[in-house]
Amino acid sequence: MTSAFTLRLGRRSDIRDIAVMSRCLIEVGLRGWSWHPTRVARALNGRDCSVVVADVGQRLAGFAIAEFGDSSAHLSLLAVQPAQQRRGIGVAMIDWLIESALTAGITQIKVEMRANNFAARSFYEALGFSHNGEVRGYYQNIETAVRMQRTIGRVTAVEK
Ligand SMILES: CC(C)(COP(=O)(O)OP(=O)(O)OC[C@H]1O[C@@H](n2cnc3c(N)ncnc32)[C@H](O)[C@@H]1OP(=O)(O)O)[C@@H](O)C(=O)NCCC(=O)NCCS
Repeated sequence: MTSAFTLRLGRRSDIRDIAVMSRCLIEVGLRGWSWHPTRVARALNGRDCSVVVADVGQRLAGFAIAEFGDSSAHLSLLAVQPAQQRRGIGVAMIDWLIESALTAGITQIKVEMRANNFAARSFYEALGFSHNGEVRGYYQNIETAVRMQRTIGRVTAVEK
């Protein structure tokens, strides 16, 4: 039986786990450590950043970081532990961030991912994101990034 997951805002005690997950699940194969603990801490403290995490029991199962601008939000980072993938945790975290973005008056969500990350591309397509170009050399002047975006808005009741 799989255990339920819960969502909450990220806190200081999550910094190391988030940074390690980023290194192992997102930055794997790239040189260095881009989202090292200091950078994660900056995001956690940043007024324009939102960090949501998912717990399964006492363990961190996933996290997502978004940066909010005036009219668009940028999804900076998202990962779910391999053993917890395909349980809807990724969707739940993005839904949380979209709800926050809507409250902030944001209408566009943007994201980049490594072009060879077909799981992430399928994930964002399943969430209604559409392809919005590619940037060669985006990752360390070597790897291409795929850009995707989605327009968001609240569904309003239609007058009868
Ligand atoms: C991308 C990622 C966050 C998805 O998280 P998740 O919790 O497994 O996703 P969900 O369970 O919410 O999936 C929702 C839908 O997305 C699609 N999807 C998710 N993972 C997929 C995969 N590996 N292959 C194809 N489609 C996938 C499916 O349509 C899925 O619905 P379904 O399971 O009912 O078929 C996860 O695979 C991950 O952490 N990958 C490594 C890190 C990464 O690549 N991050 C993104 C780039 S920053």
